[in-house]
Amino acid sequence: MQSVVMATEPVLKVAALCGSLREASFHRGLLHAAMEICKDSIKGMEIEYVDITSLPFMNEDLEVNGIYPPAVEAFRKKIEEADCYLFASPEYNYSVTGPLKNAIDWASRPPNVWADKAAAIVSAGGNFGGGRSHYHLRQIGIFIDLHFINKPELFVYAFESPPKFDSNGVLTDEETKSRLRAVLLALQAFALRFKRKC
Ligand SMILES: Cc1cc2nc3c(=O)[nH]c(=O)nc-3n(C[C@H](O)[C@H](O)[C@H](O)COP(=O)(O)O)c2cc1C
Repeated sequence: MQSVVMATEPVLKVAALCGSLREASFHRGLLHAAMEICKDSIKGMEIEYVDITSLPFMNEDLEVNGIYPPAVEAFRKKIEEADCYLFASPEYNYSVTGPLKNAIDWASRPPNVWADKAAAIVSAGGNFGGGRSHYHLRQIGIFIDLHFINKPELFVYAFESPPKFDSNGVLTDEETKSRLRAVLLALQAFALRFKRKC
């Protein structure tokens, strides 16, 4: 699939969020690979990694007169400024991880800064490749007005041979990189269509 951006189109800003806090996380590896792929071979789109590790646990008592703690305000600003989102969503007990849900919840507080944006999900893991987290994330998206691309879906079977990541969580598998690129192109096409209609 070719990149669909036209010469005059502004650069599409993607905020990339990782649901794992682990140092050698496969999911962070997927996002770093996506950033590299985008820089090297996709015109008109740039991906910024948005760190969620410093966010406090959601607690409405931390909201004072509509003002949130500084780390939350900074995070919400990044989410608001992005045109669309790339979630790397590990599967924990058949669902999304606590840290990712916490970040989503903070940015959903009034005004909900996720609303009317496009998004894509990627995951890696055993068994179903983290796939069950996608369907819970899509359900969360209904209430916060996020609009996910339906296809292609990317579930990376991280524990099957051949290895997909090195011991630092760096994505090394070329086939997975090419499937990841297809997700990025689909996100770009959908986000541009969406922006033109909003
Ligand atoms: C608390 C917890 C629950 C998990 N639950 C599941 C699960 O339900 N299904 C699954 O396939 N893997 C499960 N896993 C495995 C993770 O999805 C897997 O380790 C994945 O690589 C984590 O992502 P990361 O490498 O980015 O940290 C679980 C791991 C943890 C820590």
